[in-house]
Amino acid sequence: MLDSARRLLTPSLRSDVPPFMVMDVMAAAARIEAAGGRVIHMEVGQPAASAPSTAIAAARAALGGRIAYTEALGIPSLRKRIARHYGDAYGIAVDPGRIVITTGSSAGFILAFLALFETGERIALASPGYPPYRHILTALGCEPVLIETGPETRWEITGAQLLAAHRAKPLQGVLVASPANPTGTMIKPDVLKELIETAEGAGIRFISDEIYHGLDYAFPAVTAAQLSPSAVVINSFSKYFCMTGWRIGWIVMPEPLVRPVERLQQNLAISVPTLAQIAAEAAFDGAAEMEEIKHGYEENRRILIEGLPKDGLDKFLPVDGAFYLYADVSRFSNDSFVFAQRMLEEAGVAATPGVDFDPTRGHHFVRFCYAGSAAEMHEAVERIGTWLGRM
Ligand SMILES: Cc1ncc(COP(=O)(O)O)c(C=O)c1O
Repeated sequence: MLDSARRLLTPSLRSDVPPFMVMDVMAAAARIEAAGGRVIHMEVGQPAASAPSTAIAAARAALGGRIAYTEALGIPSLRKRIARHYGDAYGIAVDPGRIVITTGSSAGFILAFLALFETGERIALASPGYPPYRHILTALGCEPVLIETGPETRWEITGAQLLAAHRAKPLQGVLVASPANPTGTMIKPDVLKELIETAEGAGIRFISDEIYHGLDYAFPAVTAAQLSPSAVVINSFSKYFCMTGWRIGWIVMPEPLVRPVERLQQNLAISVPTLAQIAAEAAFDGAAEMEEIKHGYEENRRILIEGLPKDGLDKFLPVDGAFYLYADVSRFSNDSFVFAQRMLEEAGVAATPGVDFDPTRGHHFVRFCYAGSAAEMHEAVERIGTWLGRM
């Protein structure tokens, strides 16, 4: 091919982000199922349940009318309802004017990173961590700076680690999630407070991914919005409200940054899907249903915490929140990708290898998602036990 013709078809360097390995596990599981096998799905981080019935009813009713664009920042009544949620859940007043509706928290990250950072700026992230943080930052021309966490800091970034990284080369931001993916760990409220104070004291912007709020078992999560008016809080209807496919989330933005985000959203997306916004507002009326589902996760968590050690998987991180258990499989394998592949093929249990989440130590870990049914959890424990017993 001619050089000029080849250039037309060459992707940009910024688009060269790694794939999400969990998708490969999903594809392998689908192949087994297509051939008649049965797989217990613990690889994908999403609830098995549907959206609250209130959300579905509201969406059905809205379908009879016109589905038009909304304001770029979102439907005002939804923004107000989310602000009210901060009063109900955390006892704090948040101005609805600070709420920005987004297409899932995923679009919230894009908008927030664009509004906060210049290209080349450096943002600290915990490792292990959710891979798209670093891939979105890279695609936007920013530099993710991975800070390794471990048992000695309860798998949290500490103020001391942050300052050490900042001294080595200045940071402009830090992003933290609690409860976190893949670890399922949570940051203690006093540690979070200290981390925000350390970050902001050093001029480092603080972003809090609160997508797993509501799914806390060890202790109640606190929102960064109650600790600092400058913190950027990102949240979503995907997990607690079981609305992954509706693609609806929100940001609590510091007031001076709302207008820049509004301008970005106007240009990048016009507005967020209207039907999903209408459903999301009604989702708050279905909280009782969601609490039932949360109790199911608590039971699943208990089944795994009690059952996996009997299988031989007795080393895992504190199972504080979200619906993840991050297990150390190094007793059985030095390659969690191969471990997960064999567990899928030989035991029919799909889980995600840690390498997706932690490039350096992830080969020792596997993430189990326990958002399925209790019967599946019991069966998974039994299958893994039989399989590991044969190893
Ligand atoms: C920690 C974390 N943040 C953000 C997201 C993105 O979710 P959504 O775009 O559906 O809100 C996920 C999805 O799995 C996640 O685990």
